[in-house]
Amino acid sequence: MKVAVLTGGGDCPGLNAVIRAVVRRASEHGFEMMGLRDGWKGLLEDNHFRLTRETTSGILHRGGTILGTSRVNPFKVEGGLEKVKRAVERNGIHAIIAIGGEGTLSAATRMSQEGLRIVGVPKTIDNDLNGTDFTFGFDTAVTIATDAIDRLHSTAESHKRVIVCEVMGRHVGWIATYAGIAGGADVILVPEIPADLVKVAEHIQRRHASGRTFSIVVVAEGTKVKVGEGQSEQLITSGALDEAGRPRLGGVGSIVAHEIERRTGFETRVSVLGHIQRGGVPTAHDRVLATRYGVHACDMVARGEFGKMASLRGNEIISVDLSLATKELKRVPEEFFKVAQVFFG
Ligand code: F6P
Repeated sequence: MKVAVLTGGGDCPGLNAVIRAVVRRASEHGFEMMGLRDGWKGLLEDNHFRLTRETTSGILHRGGTILGTSRVNPFKVEGGLEKVKRAVERNGIHAIIAIGGEGTLSAATRMSQEGLRIVGVPKTIDNDLNGTDFTFGFDTAVTIATDAIDRLHSTAESHKRVIVCEVMGRHVGWIATYAGIAGGADVILVPEIPADLVKVAEHIQRRHASGRTFSIVVVAEGTKVKVGEGQSEQLITSGALDEAGRPRLGGVGSIVAHEIERRTGFETRVSVLGHIQRGGVPTAHDRVLATRYGVHACDMVARGEFGKMASLRGNEIISVDLSLATKELKRVPEEFFKVAQVFFG
């Protein structure tokens, strides 16, 4: 039986660990494995290669994805679905394991409704996928961001500055909240709560009036900001669009820093972590989680559990409906954010 695997969307530490685990388990089930290049594009362009134990050996700890990735969505390509169906038939593909986030798994859900045999694996550093407690890649991003905040702390303290650290998080503030708590941030701004920069500046002013000489502000890239009275909340984008047609985010950190300095008079700097959060080796936690997802996904194919996704519930890996993943965003719960707020100020 031939099974194809693809990685779609933004890359994420742990993708190779999933691929390796899928292939290793597949050999026990007697499946022949095929790697699709650059996500769904691999089917649209019939671009793939054989995956074996040998070709996937030594990749567990490596960042990125040996399959390549893209944000190409077959439903947005003229005749895309038919091309995918023809490629599946021509290559004798019994099932597809789609490792991806919001875009990849919503396409996977539609494909499965169109009759293709699909199993999903939830991936994103943002941790915003519904239907699973955690996605792999998130722990690595939080670890990198926490390390950066620790480093910013010592330099902010030495120079008596405010430092704003911009982290990833398009729709949600999981990375900002986790890394902010772990790094002892004095203010955390997340997409779930639009930020009023007048209030943020007043907060910093109060903190410094009580004797503090420096502050660390963590802001998620997708946080909407209100700069002044009568202004509306704005998402800060570069003006360009990504491959999926979504606005490219970035720049909110500079705006927050500028407003804090302008309103408080405190010297303020910004540090944008960007893709550093997504590159390089996965943490041990993510390697284990990714491996468990990969083994489970392969077992799902063997059991014929299609239209489903491997999911972490508590400490168990279970199978849930694929459509659950993108039904709604998994936001940071208010109660959890309140824990972070205890330490503001
Ligand atoms: O989806 C994960 C993510 O890291 C988002 O937080 C971010 O907006 C996006 O990817 C940026 O990805 P790229 O630079 O590849 O367009």
